[in-house]
Amino acid sequence: MTTTERDHGAVAPQASGRPEIRERTLRTDRWWLAPLVNALGLATFVVYATIRSFWGSAYYVADYHYLSPFYSPCLSASCVEGAQHFGSVLPEFPVWIPLAIISLPFLLGFRVTCYYYRKSYYRAFWASPPACAVREPHTAYSGETRFPLILQNAHRYFFYVAVLISLINTYDMVVAFQSDAPDGTARFGLGLGNIVLLVNVVGLWLYTLSCHSCRHITGGRLKHFSRHPVRYRIWTTLSRLNTRHMLFAWITIGTLILTDLYIMLVASGTISDLRIVN
Ligand code: FES
Repeated sequence: MTTTERDHGAVAPQASGRPEIRERTLRTDRWWLAPLVNALGLATFVVYATIRSFWGSAYYVADYHYLSPFYSPCLSASCVEGAQHFGSVLPEFPVWIPLAIISLPFLLGFRVTCYYYRKSYYRAFWASPPACAVREPHTAYSGETRFPLILQNAHRYFFYVAVLISLINTYDMVVAFQSDAPDGTARFGLGLGNIVLLVNVVGLWLYTLSCHSCRHITGGRLKHFSRHPVRYRIWTTLSRLNTRHMLFAWITIGTLILTDLYIMLVASGTISDLRIVN
């Protein structure tokens, strides 16, 4: 038995794979709390987003042009009048196809392959590992070097589409500052829904721009920062944002749900939008 085993009840790291820990855990704190909270938070979002994506109604407020982010861009002839901010370029969909089928797979791919969410759901759902210094139930570990987890490397490509979708969400938010006057003309309008949409869009940009891939795209593969002062400046700014990526990941889960929920309540007539101007 080595010194390490005698002193800590664990064997030294092996040449390959992860260290073996004989004790179930060496930790005395409530290490299980973080994976539990993460599992509940992620499961809530997945269930809510799935239900609402297939809901098919109460996603657009015609009077104030509020469009739920779960239905953007709405390009099908099945979309309600006015929700097609970019035109009706697709035919009618059967009820089992979400109206935002164009964007949802990419948004899902972007979130699922996100470096932070990977850490979060590997720990929360696969217990791989559940936490630092806690024995994991799996006997083999190949990391992300084989199928299917090697597909996580597609994250950088999902990033480009996520930027495009953030631009579309920004357009939706700007369009919503128009409300219809009694004579049918468009005029400036401001309500609580606008503020909800604005906060959501700001959160989405912070999450997207703080992405590790974004940081690499702007400042990676450079040998001399001094020869690329603009890229260096952008990279340092994004690096600062990047330190809060986990925070933005959770904030946007909350703002996406709240934005859709608010629009659903207004669109269904359950509540009225709190109007500030027009
Ligand atoms: S690392 Fe999280 S979105 Fe790219």
